[in-house]
Amino acid sequence: MQLATRVLGFTPNPFTELTALAVKHNAVNLGQGFPDWAVPDFVLAAATESLKTASHQYTAPRGIPRLLNAVAALLEPQIGKIDPLEEITITVGATQALHAALAALVNPGDEVILLEPKFDSYTPQVRLCDGVPVFVQLEPVEGKWILNLDKLKAAITPRTKGIILNSPHNPTGKVFTKAEQESIAALVQQHDLWVISDEVYDRITFEAPHISFASLPEMRERTVTIGSAGKIFSVTGWRIGWAVAPAQITTAMRGAHQWIPFHVTGHVQEATAICLEMAAENGYYAALQQRFLEQRNALHTTLTRAGFHAMLPEGGYFIVAGIEAYSGNTQAFAKHLVTEIGVAAMPVPIFYDPSTREHAPKALRFAICKSLETIAAAAERLERLKS
Ligand SMILES: Cc1ncc(COP(=O)(O)O)c(C=O)c1O
Repeated sequence: MQLATRVLGFTPNPFTELTALAVKHNAVNLGQGFPDWAVPDFVLAAATESLKTASHQYTAPRGIPRLLNAVAALLEPQIGKIDPLEEITITVGATQALHAALAALVNPGDEVILLEPKFDSYTPQVRLCDGVPVFVQLEPVEGKWILNLDKLKAAITPRTKGIILNSPHNPTGKVFTKAEQESIAALVQQHDLWVISDEVYDRITFEAPHISFASLPEMRERTVTIGSAGKIFSVTGWRIGWAVAPAQITTAMRGAHQWIPFHVTGHVQEATAICLEMAAENGYYAALQQRFLEQRNALHTTLTRAGFHAMLPEGGYFIVAGIEAYSGNTQAFAKHLVTEIGVAAMPVPIFYDPSTREHAPKALRFAICKSLETIAAAAERLERLKS
């Protein structure tokens, strides 16, 4: 039987594999980015209440009005006025929002620029829509990741249709500055491109403030802004997110969306709406920031003490830490770490395309979305590296 060529290069998700290895070796899992603390009480209560109050039948594919309104209220301070009924689509996590956006915007052969290292779903998602990913590498310079604008300019061709941006960034923890985003916006304008702005970590920044790309002059009409309730409320298994885009793009996205999930599970939409309404008033976002700040600092100290060159992330779920002090290649070291030391972390090279992997630093990605107890357990294990 002949399988479709578009899926032939798709290998099993490395996160699932690493988590299985971590379970097998009873390792502390700082590899996969899922929170490991108890779900907040108000979130659990919202989940329970939603089972009683939500419709258990089909809803409109775009999402229930209560949730559309709550997402608009969440994002209006960042990107300005939003028409909830015309400009928001509720999706199965940010992952399906990415797919719907690409399905709406990419024609076969269109080039889409991806900044590496990058969230691993971007390349397969572009390919699923018959687009061509084009890679531009961020450069680690003195503890910061720099966007080389000349390299970005050089990557733009007549076939370029758009760029996927991600800030706060996975895996580096970079938060793109206003100046950087303005430079990108100028190119977007000049070359008539669109932008998918993946802002799933927008509530988790430490020093630098998060700036939504759509807030830049003229960019709202060219941008799809993507978010994730799973990241905001530490419930990644709920599989719910959203995309905010101008009405014309939203209509096209909904066209694709209605044929893939049809709509997101009704009571999960209701629960998310309740959570957003409550979080707007109960101080949750400040508490979330504080939690992540403490965990980031604890993990950064732990990794530095263990001999890694840990970079200090400005936001998001992860720390990238150089392993120059250790011999062997990154994959082999990551395997040694999980099987012999008992700590799981992702090799940074997997966040690069095989064709560009020579640019990858010798480094691991560690998750800071883990409780202080988990980080302390990892610290204890990492002591073994010194013996
Ligand atoms: C940058 C980035 N975008 C999107 C996603 C996917 O989010 P969701 O779980 O809501 O599909 C992730 C998850 O790790 C991510 O890191």
